[in-house]
Amino acid sequence: DSTIILSALLGFVLGSVPFGLLLTRAAGLGDVRDIGSGSIGATNVLRTGNKGLAAATVLLDAAKGVVPVLVAAHFWPGTQGIAAVAAVTGHCFTPWLKFKGGKGFATAAGILLALAWPVMLVCAAIWAATLAISRISSVSSMTTVVAAPVVGWVMGYPAVVIPLIAVAAIVLIQHRANIGRLMRGEEPKIGSKA
Ligand code: G3P
Repeated sequence: DSTIILSALLGFVLGSVPFGLLLTRAAGLGDVRDIGSGSIGATNVLRTGNKGLAAATVLLDAAKGVVPVLVAAHFWPGTQGIAAVAAVTGHCFTPWLKFKGGKGFATAAGILLALAWPVMLVCAAIWAATLAISRISSVSSMTTVVAAPVVGWVMGYPAVVIPLIAVAAIVLIQHRANIGRLMRGEEPKIGSKA
């Protein structure tokens, strides 16, 4: 029905705004897609050396997840999961960048905050622990998105499980180059320029 379409559209349109690219361009740092992993996400923005810009990218990319889920919950209840998956999809396959984009992790964090904040807290702890151990952003991102639906289920939020499985699939697909680098032992640690 029409509320599903509205939710999907809102999520996708907001998700598609490429904040990492817009911010690095505005700061005169050139095109973030030409450095590091080529992603427009905060991890790659950090490779410009500008920590403030990376922090702004993570906040704005997370907001792209929070806002459509909250709007959907208010106006079109029951369609939050659609808005959530659409936001991550919009970020990863943005029409403004020939359907390329980021890897979806910050936006996934945003949707989880809005869908079920207690699940988000546990996932944040998993993310922090795996990042502290591995020092590799992609490792902690992938571990966390795979864990998230399980955590949601165990904590008693069955409604988030299917959307989170869909999000995990998208985020993992977007990490295919990272997975290749990890297997070759070439994935850079946080703080190293690659
Ligand atoms: O959240 C993004 C991270 O998992 C990987 O980013 O730029 O190292 O491919 P990047």
